[in-house]
Amino acid sequence: MAGHPRGVSSDLTVPSYERQPGVNPPLDFPEYRSTALRAPHQPLVLLPHRLTEITGPLLGAERVTPADADLTIQHAGEPLGQRITVSGRVLDSDGRPVPDTLIEIWQPNSAGRYRHVVDNHPAPLDPNFTGAGRCLTDSEGRYRFVTIKPGSYPWGNHLNAWRPAHIHFSLFGRAFAQRLVTQMYFPGDPLFFQDPIFNSVPELARQRLISRFDLSLTEPEVSLGFAWDIVLRGRGATFFEPPGDRR
Ligand SMILES: [Fe+2]
Repeated sequence: MAGHPRGVSSDLTVPSYERQPGVNPPLDFPEYRSTALRAPHQPLVLLPHRLTEITGPLLGAERVTPADADLTIQHAGEPLGQRITVSGRVLDSDGRPVPDTLIEIWQPNSAGRYRHVVDNHPAPLDPNFTGAGRCLTDSEGRYRFVTIKPGSYPWGNHLNAWRPAHIHFSLFGRAFAQRLVTQMYFPGDPLFFQDPIFNSVPELARQRLISRFDLSLTEPEVSLGFAWDIVLRGRGATFFEPPGDRR
């Protein structure tokens, strides 16, 4: 086929990241009401990754600066709330680190309010906090963000529904077509029991979404630290959201 390097077959595919049974929730989960609108009514079709997907342009490492990973220094003043460091590794199915992968995070401020046009619940915006950051994993697959512990927020799923505190994570693999999205939670959150998004994940995999307090990540008199590894495939895999699921 024209356009392919000599000797490279157009049939080349790379391993895909299929939804694994026992890790991911059903796409239609009645307690999470809006899944009824999003869940596909036809069987999913797996699109193999071919050369087009794996050789397409990436963001480019030079566009990501160290300051992008510190959500507390993006404005003139410091944001309100508990400063935290969130760090961990991105691992493939056999524990191999995944280097140079772009991780983006987004979250509400310490009062539980997103800086977003559709979030208008009565909590204050923080002029010193946008709530978005990004970084690339290093050669050991490690990432590190400095941010503010997000607050819980109400949502309209059911009467008095509140989301446990969480940070949204997006991972790009070696190509944009490999984007995966998930959420990280905090240990001991009292809102887990009533959250259908968290509870739609099978119980074993649910625990993998909860970060771990890590004293070694804290900074004396400055910030607390939470560790969270993301496993892309295999028995220890992290749950990933279906496309369009971004609450
Ligand atoms: Fe959220």
